[in-house]
Amino acid sequence: MAIEIIPVPDLGGAGQVEVIEVCVAVGDQVEAEQSLLVLESDKASMEVPCPQAGKVVSLKVKEGDSITEGDAILELEVAAGAEPEVAEEEAPAEKQDEPVAAAPAPAAPAAAAEQMVTVPDLGGADQVEVIELCVAEGDEIQEGDSLVALESDKASMEVPSPFSGKIVGLKLAVGDKVSVGDPLALMLVAGAAPAPAAPEVAAAPAPAVAESPSKAASAAAPPPVAAPADDRAAAQVAGADGGGVYAGPAVRKLARQLGVDLTRLKPSGPRARFTKEDVRTYVKQLVADVNSGKVSVSGGSGIPPIPEVDFAQFGDIELVKMSKIAKATVTNMSRAWLNVPHVTQFDEADITELEAFRKSMKAEADKRGVKLTPLPFLMKATAAALAAEPSFNVSLHADGEHKVQKKYIHIGMAVDTPAGLMVPVIRDVDKKGLWELAAETAAMAEKARAGKLMPRDMQGGCFTISSLGAMGGTGFTPIVNAPEVAIMGVSKAQIKPIWNGSEFEPRQMLPLAVSYDHRAINGGDCGRFFTYLVSVISDIRRLLL
Ligand code: COA
Repeated sequence: MAIEIIPVPDLGGAGQVEVIEVCVAVGDQVEAEQSLLVLESDKASMEVPCPQAGKVVSLKVKEGDSITEGDAILELEVAAGAEPEVAEEEAPAEKQDEPVAAAPAPAAPAAAAEQMVTVPDLGGADQVEVIELCVAEGDEIQEGDSLVALESDKASMEVPSPFSGKIVGLKLAVGDKVSVGDPLALMLVAGAAPAPAAPEVAAAPAPAVAESPSKAASAAAPPPVAAPADDRAAAQVAGADGGGVYAGPAVRKLARQLGVDLTRLKPSGPRARFTKEDVRTYVKQLVADVNSGKVSVSGGSGIPPIPEVDFAQFGDIELVKMSKIAKATVTNMSRAWLNVPHVTQFDEADITELEAFRKSMKAEADKRGVKLTPLPFLMKATAAALAAEPSFNVSLHADGEHKVQKKYIHIGMAVDTPAGLMVPVIRDVDKKGLWELAAETAAMAEKARAGKLMPRDMQGGCFTISSLGAMGGTGFTPIVNAPEVAIMGVSKAQIKPIWNGSEFEPRQMLPLAVSYDHRAINGGDCGRFFTYLVSVISDIRRLLL
């Protein structure tokens, strides 16, 4: 066993830097590349990796210390003969890809060369602000890793590194304004063409070494960075920088990857620093909130949740369990209300003749054991209107390209049951007579109230009738029973004085409201449908035509 002193590595020219976090304790067994410290200068945060595996014997720094290159960090007990992964002058060439060395900056091997990375084509943007440095001097990075984040007034973008290698010098700082070709970072790139000053490789095909920014612009510039095409792309970077917050590069990288804006989090680390756990906890909580419906994910137009209220503070309360149907109604109504742009149109049908006819049929109805209410007439008239105006007998296809035109006419009827609202469907209404419809609607209503409807009984509707006429009311706006595109609300019929051209006449008027999905149906379609429907209800002889 031997004791090695691990010093502060090359800090890329930064003088005194502050120790923000000590990541290990005395007695810890550490692995090569494990973070020992997090340092922060006024320009960047950086983590100092351990150059070799060993056991921490003593710590020479503590949080808050100001340290500089070469200062001792800790004593490490290492296996006798073990060498730091990146040695000093004699570092073998194959070690050049290792992270920041603990020893003073290693000499570049023969196959490595310094290359200036410049600001790429910014899609025409000029004088773009640097909002984040994603790397620190001394960092070993891979080709494609983000170097800096830039933000213009239109978009945010990250500049990827065109090389794998080590950041030797950063040429810009947060807040700088940069344009295409400006020097961005000097990198030590293993296996790259050496500086042109070296005559023996001057003719190397890759003119990758930039001596001046203008040369670099054409030589070592990363691939052009297209400005994000939409705000969504911008949002992935904008707000995710955590500018003005204390977080190490690894935490910032994780936050960027998950699209987390660090300014929205509370730091839990020492000296108000953010940890990776803070980011993960935030994301976990956010997912839980979305899943439980506490948080909406509909973007800027999101619907704020209704605040939870402790009603017990206002008086006695009791929690009443909701039935399955009531809970399904919550989901269905919210879905329909939030997805369907509703328009409701109102009209009145003169049912004087219809009612006279209905009453005249009472004896026969009794003989048949059937109750003939206005509902079968409304069903039959609606079926006729759906046939006359097929634009109402559609559903929007999920592909966003088509409407589904239905060739059958099945009509749902809303039934008020002790367990909640149910909508059984009467099939092929256009093919059935009034007696059959009267019997079937009564049977379905009974089945619904008895809780005996099967799922199939409630499927396949083209249109729904919600009749509150027996209960009263002069009008209401029903919610479309999606994926149907229209619904009719029926209110209580009343005798009203109607002008017949020469005098007021008492007529029995039925208030009707048709709500429709304006994505599928236009006002003109509804005008035609509704006028026809009202004319049929007002003169049921038209059903024969
Ligand atoms: N105006 C005046 N009276 C009406 C009427 C109207 N629009 N509609 C029905 N009536 C009368 C009926 O003629 C009947 O009277 P009668 O016995 O003198 O002939 C009485 O009201 C009761 O009718 P009802 O038994 O309800 O039968 P129905 O066929 O009209 O309705 C249901 C059947 C299943 C639709 C109905 O019972 C029901 O549940 N409606 C509630 C629907 C609902 O909750 N909608 C809201 C959805 S959010």
